[in-house]
Amino acid sequence: MSSASLLRAAPDVIAAAARRVMARCEELARVSADAASIERVYLSPEHARVNRLAAEWMRELGMRTWQDAAGNQVGRIGDPAAPALMLGSHLDTVLDAGRYDGIAGVLMALEVVRLLREPGVDGWTVRLPFAIEVVAFSDEEGTRFGKALLGSSAVAGTWNDAWWDLTDADGVSLRRAFLEFGLDPARIGEAARRPGELVGYLEAHIEQGPELDRAGEPLAVVSSIASARRFQLVVEGEARHAGGTPYDMRRDALLGASEAALAVERICSAEHHIVGTVGRFEAFPGAVNVIPGEVQFSLDLRGEFDGERDRVWDALARELDEIMGRRALRWRSREVHSAPAVFCAPLLREVVAGGIRATLPPRSDAPPVIFSRAGHDGMALGAVTDVGMLFLRNPDGVSHHPDESVSAGDVAHGIRALAEAVLLRGTERI
Ligand code: GLV
Ligand code: MN
Ligand code: MN
Repeated sequence: MSSASLLRAAPDVIAAAARRVMARCEELARVSADAASIERVYLSPEHARVNRLAAEWMRELGMRTWQDAAGNQVGRIGDPAAPALMLGSHLDTVLDAGRYDGIAGVLMALEVVRLLREPGVDGWTVRLPFAIEVVAFSDEEGTRFGKALLGSSAVAGTWNDAWWDLTDADGVSLRRAFLEFGLDPARIGEAARRPGELVGYLEAHIEQGPELDRAGEPLAVVSSIASARRFQLVVEGEARHAGGTPYDMRRDALLGASEAALAVERICSAEHHIVGTVGRFEAFPGAVNVIPGEVQFSLDLRGEFDGERDRVWDALARELDEIMGRRALRWRSREVHSAPAVFCAPLLREVVAGGIRATLPPRSDAPPVIFSRAGHDGMALGAVTDVGMLFLRNPDGVSHHPDESVSAGDVAHGIRALAEAVLLRGTERI
């Protein structure tokens, strides 16, 4: 494959595009439910505000815009009758989030549209055989309802009606949140896309890990996205007086749950490519002088392959039986999210690799290929179309944290690589 550039935009035009992405990431970071941190969850007033901003930026580029039935913000440009190459990522965040997870990918996609439209730049002039859609997905993180990928699942046509009864921390159901946001739950099916309407989905995202930083590489081709399962677990013991209850009478739910959390680390870390995280952990009744009678905690489990991940969950369940049996506790779990591993399509892996090779200075060697331990909207979209992903270096691998970062230089490389990948896909020059 050649590393010749199809894009004729000058480096200073791309540098300006990267600066715009960085400035807009700052602007979106100010749209937060919390004045001291970044917090933007599904179907919140902040979600509505960032959709309005994204729609404005899309219209500026001549795109037709709409908010779909799941609250995803969509912009489209090109032949109305042609299938679309979908670009995008998400604008929702975790709690106390960084500025770039998802957001950078949406804004980079908009810059790709801008570059492909610039007069004198190869783009529409090469007559792409597809339209381009940019989607700002509304709920990738699952922060509010526990279930991740709600926005992209609606687009993929894999919405599950059981989700309507999911509730947030205040007991608000997903159904009610839809109505309060101004969306009609009965119309959710209208967000779904048919395979024939799309030629593929391409997403740029920060790595959310240290591999590229350690390798001194700005960009990578993603080979696959980890399979994931999330559980809510409850350990039940007995709340009793902290002073009067001797050790042989205690059924302390916190101690059992703590052993369980340590078992997650021990069992997962002994496996290749499996990570398990207990991210939420709450003891009840939560008083200093009462033995905890109940603990609720979350488990996020990921692996490169579904079978490996499921085998680890079975081993954890056996370990929890042993721990709780020994401590005379009971435990139960509820699965709140499950997503199979998604393998990027060979053609889109090739065009992303070609895009990276055409960055400046052009490279003749094969760019790095890495597997994503983090989840992405592409996991859901894999059910309806081919998926390809480009990763950007994430200094120190810090993500899901306010210190998350990416450099403007790497964003410039990423924009060029993504634009080249779109042109390669369009001209089938690979
Ligand atoms: C999303 O960022 C996830 O991987 O949890
Ligand atoms: Mn994230
Ligand atoms: Mn993300």
